[in-house]
Amino acid sequence: MENKSIGVEREHWGSRFGFVMAAAGSAIGLGNIWRFPYLAGDNGGGAFIIIYLIAAFLIGFTVMLCEFAIGRAGQLNAIGSFRKLAPGTPWWITGAFGVLAAFLILSFYGVVAGWTMAYVWMTVTGSLSGVPSDQLPGIFVGFITNPTQPIIWQAIFMVLTVGIVVAGIKGGIEKWSKILMPAIIVILFILMFRGLTLEGGFAGVSFILKPDFSQITGKVVLAALGQAFFSLSLGMGTMITYGSYLEKKENMPSSAATVIGLDTGIAVLAGFAIFPALFAVGLEPSQGAGLVFMVLPAVFDTLPLGMFFGTIFFILLAIAALTSAISILEVVVAFIKDEFNVARSFSAIVIGFIIFLVGVTASLSMGPWDHIVVPFPGSEAGLNLFDFYDEFSAKILLPIGGMLICLFTVWVWKPQNAFKEITNNGTLSFAWLPLFKFMAGIVAPIVILIVLLNGFGIFG
Ligand code: PFF
Repeated sequence: MENKSIGVEREHWGSRFGFVMAAAGSAIGLGNIWRFPYLAGDNGGGAFIIIYLIAAFLIGFTVMLCEFAIGRAGQLNAIGSFRKLAPGTPWWITGAFGVLAAFLILSFYGVVAGWTMAYVWMTVTGSLSGVPSDQLPGIFVGFITNPTQPIIWQAIFMVLTVGIVVAGIKGGIEKWSKILMPAIIVILFILMFRGLTLEGGFAGVSFILKPDFSQITGKVVLAALGQAFFSLSLGMGTMITYGSYLEKKENMPSSAATVIGLDTGIAVLAGFAIFPALFAVGLEPSQGAGLVFMVLPAVFDTLPLGMFFGTIFFILLAIAALTSAISILEVVVAFIKDEFNVARSFSAIVIGFIIFLVGVTASLSMGPWDHIVVPFPGSEAGLNLFDFYDEFSAKILLPIGGMLICLFTVWVWKPQNAFKEITNNGTLSFAWLPLFKFMAGIVAPIVILIVLLNGFGIFG
């Protein structure tokens, strides 16, 4: 395959702020507000959160910087960049794993984003007002197991995602991210204060802040690592792709640190918004994927203008999902566009449609197709398709992708080239460089490998 677009001027981000917002927009999404709280609830609370934080700051930072550097040096998509930096080697397969992960993740991600849009509708029309909190789980389950409704919402969401990607980097992705990201922070703060002031809410704070270390097992550590990759959009070439639209002057270490700080801050904020409320309304932390949808409507009901806040919250959540979904779609679209010289719009529409179809199987697996079970290591009963796409990508593809990206940067792509890229040809002082080399070349790959093997019970 020829990289036909080499030589053609590549589109770039309009500003540093725009790039950081777009990368943060990719990172901040359902992973922070939907996935993180329910995983923390399922895996014992505070102990999970501590491991998550370590994984995000140590491993996440390392992988993100490697991805930015590979993308900016390659100036191509996730597969093309590897091929350009290490021609004639099989390292492009790392990018190919990423493209596969993009298909799987966006398929179930679109389904959950569709749920959030349906909840916008339910709060606008008032159908959740005054519903006793013990009935909220039933409403949620009734909705997601319905054979048609969630698919319609998923379709609407996918159309929006494709629409933004068609509009391009500066005019679509960057423009939207800059407006929408700050708004979500404000509303999460309001929810956190409401949750904390509800009677009984403090039990939620101790659930987060009093870690029970006896809960930590190989499985929990793997779940936390997978969540760090998922939440930071790492291991599948998203940040390689976004890095490829970067200008040479950008400070990548500081951008990576900012993105990780924002993403982690929002996850923790979401935890503080949800767990106090959860205990106050008397639900269990291990509600699984429905947690946010079951707990928050009960909180909105206790607020003056509650359903108004509810509507805004679910709109913002849908938007946060949108700025992430576009980054996932962009991984595949950039690949097709760069390598096969097809128009952005054509590739976005075709790929978006295929992903939608895979997503339909994920949605149906919640209800009519729940008898289809896929074997998965660590799960005795096996997983339905939705969970399989989720777990296979977060717990296997992303960590392996991240490990290969680190190894590639330090050992394959001539390391001096990698470090030149990171320091903008030596003009940028990056005091952590020696530590970074050690982390990316040795620590991160070994830790990821151990966590993977141990998480699947292969040793330990
Ligand atoms: N980071 C996004 C979230 O937390 O919702 C999800 C995601 C985006 C995962 C991009 C992977 C990715 F490449």
